[in-house]
Amino acid sequence: MSRIAYVNGRYVPLRDAFVHIEDRGYQFADGVYEGIAVRKGGPVDRDPHIARLYRSMAELAITPPVAQRAWPFLLNTMIRRNHIRDGFLYIQVTRGVARRDHPFPSESLTSLVITCRPVNFDAVARRARGGVAAITARDERWPRADIKSISLLPNILAKQKAREAGAFEAVLVDGEGLVTEGSSTNIWIVKDGVAITRSAAFNDQFNILAGITRATLMQVAKTHDIQVKEAAFSVADALKADEMFLTSSTGCVTPIVTLDGTAIGTGTPGPIGLALVEAYMAYMG
Ligand code: PDD
Repeated sequence: MSRIAYVNGRYVPLRDAFVHIEDRGYQFADGVYEGIAVRKGGPVDRDPHIARLYRSMAELAITPPVAQRAWPFLLNTMIRRNHIRDGFLYIQVTRGVARRDHPFPSESLTSLVITCRPVNFDAVARRARGGVAAITARDERWPRADIKSISLLPNILAKQKAREAGAFEAVLVDGEGLVTEGSSTNIWIVKDGVAITRSAAFNDQFNILAGITRATLMQVAKTHDIQVKEAAFSVADALKADEMFLTSSTGCVTPIVTLDGTAIGTGTPGPIGLALVEAYMAYMG
């Protein structure tokens, strides 16, 4: 069955889904994106994801490509047309096609591309229950981590470094030795029963993306009487932590059991991480 993509108002077979070579996303990475999990045929946390997309567009003065009320229908149509029960919706918005020139073009139509592919969340849960390895890597991104920009070169270089080291994720570390987030995830540690993750608020600069899974997990943790604190922590703190885990739309909650080859806690997923894995899976439905 051929997958269907949405490209600027048309539903087309994925193999025929193209954008123009002068799209500013292609030439300047002048665009933003969102990734939304699909569970049992419906988007998970759709409204906060769309709200974050609007914030990203506003920060870059990109004109929204469709009316805000159109999103539920668009996303549901993509899920249905691709026959997805469990999957991942990818939304990319760019400033559109214009003759290559650095300033914003006086006229260009915002480009919108949406794809939807299957994800096996049972396999994600199995991987989570076993725990994954992570490495550290220098956070070499621009200081606007709050914008979900398609300019992901530092992120993919860090992820590739992790994969070449046999690890699942790269934990990014800033100039002060503090953990910011993962290359495509938010990072948490657990110390003395408290789950700690870096603040997404502006403090001199934005340090992390305000992950939707992260925000949801804060609520889920509350209902399970697990204390959460937003605070900066160092690599040394992580190595001394009882547990460590990551969150993202496709990684859900996944315990990290080694960092640069050193065991975190017992070197196996701990009780709080495992409780949050199950609690988040239950939340997803
Ligand atoms: N990545 N931090 C970064 C740098 C990310 O790229 C992501 C998401 C997250 C987690 O955000 P959320 O919980 O809203 O998915 C944190 C997506 C999944 C991606 O790039 O595919």
